[in-house]
Amino acid sequence: MPQRKIPLIAPSILSADFMRLGEEVTAIDRDGADWIHVDVMDGHFVPNMTFGPSMVAALRRQTDKPLDVHLMIAPADPYIESFAQAGANHIYVHCEGNPHVHRSLQTIRKSGAIPGIAICPGTPPEALTYLMGELDLILVMTVNPGFGGQKFIEDQIGKIEILRAMADATGRDIRIGVDGGIDPTTAPRVVKAGADMLVAGTAVYGQPDYRKAISDLRDAGMRGLQP
Ligand code: DX5
Ligand code: ZN
Repeated sequence: MPQRKIPLIAPSILSADFMRLGEEVTAIDRDGADWIHVDVMDGHFVPNMTFGPSMVAALRRQTDKPLDVHLMIAPADPYIESFAQAGANHIYVHCEGNPHVHRSLQTIRKSGAIPGIAICPGTPPEALTYLMGELDLILVMTVNPGFGGQKFIEDQIGKIEILRAMADATGRDIRIGVDGGIDPTTAPRVVKAGADMLVAGTAVYGQPDYRKAISDLRDAGMRGLQP
């Protein structure tokens, strides 16, 4: 079995104080975030709205950490290039609601960003079978996308295990992130199942001490690496 990696922590700015967003990003950058997770919502694919490419450009000026851009928009293809040019390092498109995701992944790579697929709780892992050759990142949604602060959906653990086996079978280095309801209780369980990147909104920005919250999450995740 390939060596499991120490889980990366990607706080989601969806739960930050938007009035002080610059400071909020600087704080997690300084306090140990590995990546900055940016939730882009269109009020159509998901029932909420957030940011566009100009926000990604502003974040790019605020931090040198990788910007992990989760597109919850349909269609996504017309906007990929703009997000990449704005400075997104990683771009995820959803495999639901976008008809030609194989092409979307190629477009992301061509635009200079690292391509990923996000998968909703109701979608079976096999939906990614013929996309494995085109992606470097998988984002397993453990809540229905649209809002922070929701409850972790338990049966997604089995999906992470299946996706980890599918990813390892490619022989390529594919990182599996988990997004939704991640806290120090769920973190070890998803890492044990095969995740190596943890997105956390509430479990970081809902805490008084961001440094402690990020390190608690990383420590909890690492407990999942123990046999
Ligand atoms: C939900 C977003 C998540 C969200 C997670 O649609 O994709 O990134 O910020 O928030 P928590 O960690 O609070 O579940
Ligand atoms: Zn997200």
